[in-house]
Amino acid sequence: MLLNGETLAYNPPLMTTEHELILVLDFGSQYTQLIARRVREIGVYCEIVPFNTAPEALAGRPLRGVIFSGGPSSVYDDDAPHADRSWLEQGVPVLGICYGFQHFAYFLGGTVEPSPAREYGRAVLSVTSPSRLLAGLPHEMDVWMSHGDVVRAAPDGFTVVGQTENALGAVEDVSRQLYAIQFHPEVHHTPRGRDILANFALEICGCRADWSMASFIDSTVAAIREHVGPDARAVCGLSGGVDSAVAAAIVDRALGDRQTCLFVDTGLLRKNEFDEVLEVLRREMSLNVVGIAAGERFLGELAGVVDPERKRKIIGREFIEVFQAEASRLEKVDYLVQGTLYPDVIESVSVKGPSQVIKSHHNVGGLPETMRLKLIEPLRELFKDEVRRVGREMGLPEEIIGRQPFPGPGLAVRILGEITEDRVALLQEADAIVIEEIRAAGLYDEIWQAFAVLLPIQSVGVMGDQRTYESTVAIRAVHSQDGMTADWVRLPYDVLARISSRIVSEVRGINRVVYDVTSKPPSTIEWE
Ligand code: XMP
Repeated sequence: MLLNGETLAYNPPLMTTEHELILVLDFGSQYTQLIARRVREIGVYCEIVPFNTAPEALAGRPLRGVIFSGGPSSVYDDDAPHADRSWLEQGVPVLGICYGFQHFAYFLGGTVEPSPAREYGRAVLSVTSPSRLLAGLPHEMDVWMSHGDVVRAAPDGFTVVGQTENALGAVEDVSRQLYAIQFHPEVHHTPRGRDILANFALEICGCRADWSMASFIDSTVAAIREHVGPDARAVCGLSGGVDSAVAAAIVDRALGDRQTCLFVDTGLLRKNEFDEVLEVLRREMSLNVVGIAAGERFLGELAGVVDPERKRKIIGREFIEVFQAEASRLEKVDYLVQGTLYPDVIESVSVKGPSQVIKSHHNVGGLPETMRLKLIEPLRELFKDEVRRVGREMGLPEEIIGRQPFPGPGLAVRILGEITEDRVALLQEADAIVIEEIRAAGLYDEIWQAFAVLLPIQSVGVMGDQRTYESTVAIRAVHSQDGMTADWVRLPYDVLARISSRIVSEVRGINRVVYDVTSKPPSTIEWE
């Protein structure tokens, strides 16, 4: 958790001081975050830092182990990321994964070569010698490979303990506490990967597994109290979604009514969402919430605008103005609470190392600069499903926890073309039918997002004996882990059929329904 706006420097999170820590140095692998999450699932607190973080930055923290992540580079590339070599001499065990393994060889004198074929996918690892890292595991197991280079000869002092058909699979030097593997233990396709990480974290690093969602909540609440002091006040923007609600609930535990939550109705929320969510936030979560009905203002500013980026900018600007005006009526505020998650952070800036920057994101930035507030971001290290676990642990209502994600600009990015009150109402009706039918089919909780999109085209239809010329709605439903990649859901035909026939018969103005069958990439989840 970061408690200020400085995101580019490494800021030791306050909450973990008493928890044993395993650190991941990020060399840019798409799986880096998964490593941290798997280690946390084992019950050991784990954090990601950029590859070039110096060991001194961790001084005073109870560091028990370090993992070098994978990465897309080749260690001999001119611009290849290199860690501080002294990580290998800190007296804590180090595990190198994939590029991390090659990095050991680069430091310690093994041979790294381009693989004859870029290996991607399943391989079989044979355990060839007694091993601490692979202790208790079968002699042969499936592992997942994704690499261009391989280590041909292990550095002096290392024992080869596992081999795949094409590569050295696992090596270790117990005396120096150095362990390395070519495959990815963090992905599902390495079914025993969790045991390997558990061997590392619990047996080799000797961690106690003292981290849990409950301890996360307690230490975060304590850290916020300590950091902001006895009088400071905070303001939190609620979106109706799970992230901001869980962030607010944590801060509520720490500061009580010294936090005021603002929930803005942009006029672009889902059908009945503003009233229903406001009710839950107040009655069931007992949050100190002010609801601000600003729909007319947003729709007024958006009149005639069709360009997606302009829509986003207008909404962002109006949101800040409405939020600021309301916040200025509160007693002096020092902190802004945001429900920023780990994927928001890496989609925005490459804070934690060279993991690919995908696009500039929505939730980060904006308000703090203009309001000169310091940030409280209690969920900054977590993934969405971890946030949901935190929320459940805190007893938040399922209506909030299980809610599918919804973009900040709301239906504006799902109405292609001009946004008018009528078109918003049309989409709200169609969208409500999608959600109802997805729920009725028992699919709501297993789908990342399902929604309707209003297209700016009309087409010919026939209803009764009448020719119609009306709008088209596209249905989008995707599976995703974190919104960064997504696959379209193979919805059963009968569910699609019910959605389609209900929309066309119940929503006047729509005579055609289509289903979006593209994944992300190459498409995005939202249409604008
Ligand atoms: P895309 O469309 O980029 O969406 O594939 C990825 C995830 O982010 C959500 N999204 C947003 N969330 N403000 C938000 O708070 C935004 O401007 C925004 N745009 C997209 C989207 O719903 C999906 O879950």
